[in-house]
Formats: sequence, structure tokens, C-alpha cells
Amino acid sequence: MRHLIDITDLSVQEIDELIATAEDIIENKPKYAHVCAGKKLATLFFEPSTRTRLSFEAAMYELGGHVLGFASADSSSASKGESVTDTIRTVGCYADIIAMRHPKEGAPMAASLRSTVPIINAGDGGHNHPTQTLTDLLTIHRERGSLDNFTIGFCGDLKFGRTVHSLVSALSRNKGINFIFISPAELRIPEYIKSGVLEKNGIPYREVESMEEVMPELDILYMTRVQRERFFNEADYIRLKDTYILDPSKLRDAKPDMRILHPLPRVNEIAHSVDDDPRACYFKQVENGKHVRMALIMKLLEVKA
Ligand code: NCD
Repeated sequence: MRHLIDITDLSVQEIDELIATAEDIIENKPKYAHVCAGKKLATLFFEPSTRTRLSFEAAMYELGGHVLGFASADSSSASKGESVTDTIRTVGCYADIIAMRHPKEGAPMAASLRSTVPIINAGDGGHNHPTQTLTDLLTIHRERGSLDNFTIGFCGDLKFGRTVHSLVSALSRNKGINFIFISPAELRIPEYIKSGVLEKNGIPYREVESMEEVMPELDILYMTRVQRERFFNEADYIRLKDTYILDPSKLRDAKPDMRILHPLPRVNEIAHSVDDDPRACYFKQVENGKHVRMALIMKLLEVKA
């Protein structure tokens, strides 16, 4: 039985295969309409979500399967004090696969150790978010035709932004990726990623504070929101929340074929006037997220079209 806890649980080849399956799903929807008939996906969300939970649910419906679950810890027995592992053992009696999101780093990993069905990490605290990474990789692949040889700038809350951590881990295994990290000093990419992922593999990277300074170099600009719920102190959040606001004037020096990604939700960091720029890809990401999750569910349930 396979789980997806960390993006590196999948090999580069397996990720390529998932992307190929997702692209085939996009082209040939009807072929996949019944492949998960009789199967059930549980979505256990101990933390808020719009896209991740609903895209998992839409994905399972589009594969002909069924969905059950809860959308907040308050509506589950977690509010009565039940442990994550007891919840998982229970849900494993009702569902064939579980997607779970939890505010504690490592909770999906702990759950997987006692689970009788595959667990998918749908976000654990400020740590990882591997299925957003699959979404991001599918989007980059569809936009550029390849996952190698580009310069990517990650901008915003690189400390708590779990989607950044997982995407850096994934891309560190691809060829010719040039990493630029754009953040205020307090929200830099964690040391464990710099030393354990980038430096360990001899991958060069730069850290800067100004978005404008690096804009002309970027092939991809990956914007993120400042993660209010991870701050210890509201005053720090208020001070940092609007450090970067991407608007059309800042895009003047960007490459004409640069792509702008954002896992969403956006707060203030991208002006709505950027949405009509052909370089904006964040709503394409939303759509791609459902298709790549369809491919992932099929893989973990070992079903074929
Ligand atoms: C992200 C998350 O939950 O980490 N959202 C998502 O799943 N698309 C990003 C965020 O909340 O800022």
C-alpha cells in the first residue's frame, strides 16, 4: 500500500507518469468516468480549505466513485478529544482512500503508520502540501512543455508556505532549475530546505528582498499569501502582509512569456487587474488540480482506465 505524505514519496518518473495521465484525462474524459465505481474517498479536513477538498471530491465523482468526510475539526470527534490515529482507523472501515489536512506538521505521516488504507497529505501545518505540488507541476508542464531548465522566483511567505516547501523539493530533482527566493528577512525559506534539499544536492539559489530586482530574469513567478494562521503575533502579520503586491506596473519588466502561479487563496498579493494578463495562470492551476488528483487517486487505488 502506498501513501503520499511527502512529494519525494513519488519518484521523478512516477510524477511524469501522473502528469501524463492527467493530460490524458483532460483530453479523454469519458474514458475515466467509471474507473472508480464502487470506491469511496474520505476527505478529513481538520483545517479550512476550498480548492483542495472540493477538487478531491470533484475528482472522485468524475472517476465514478463516492465521497464522504468532514470539512472542519469542530464537526468531527476530534472536538471530543479523539486522536488522529483513532479517527483514521475508524474511517479506514468506511473508505478505500483518505485525503487529510491537519494543522499539525507530521499528522498525516503519523496517521499513515496506523492506516489500513492509503493516506494523502492534503496539507500539514506549515510543512508540506504534495498535491498542490502535483498541481503546480502539471501547470508548468502544460505551459512550458517541460519541467526542466527554467528560473523560478518564489515570492512572499516562504517560511510558512507549505506549497513552496513541497515544490522546491520536487524541482530540486529536475534539471537546470534556477531558484530565486524573494521574501522579507523574517519569512525566508527554512534552513532545513536550504541545507537539506538545495545545498546537499549542490543546487545554487539566491535570496533577495526585492521582487522588481529579479523580475526580468524569471520564467515563473510563484506568488504566495502571508500565512496569517501560522503567526504567533497579529502585529507581525499586519506588518508583513502587504510586503509584495503584484500589479501591472511591476510586470512591465517581466518576460512576455513569464508565467504567474499562485496556489490560492490570494489576499492582497496579486491585484485583480493582473487576472486578465495572459501570463496569469492561477485559475488554470485550479482546474489542473482536479485532473492531477484524479490521476493520483487512480494510482494509489491501483485502478487503470
Ligand atoms: C494553500 C495551502 O492550503 O497551503 N492553498 C491550497 O491548498 N491551494 C495555500 C494557502 O493557503 O496559502
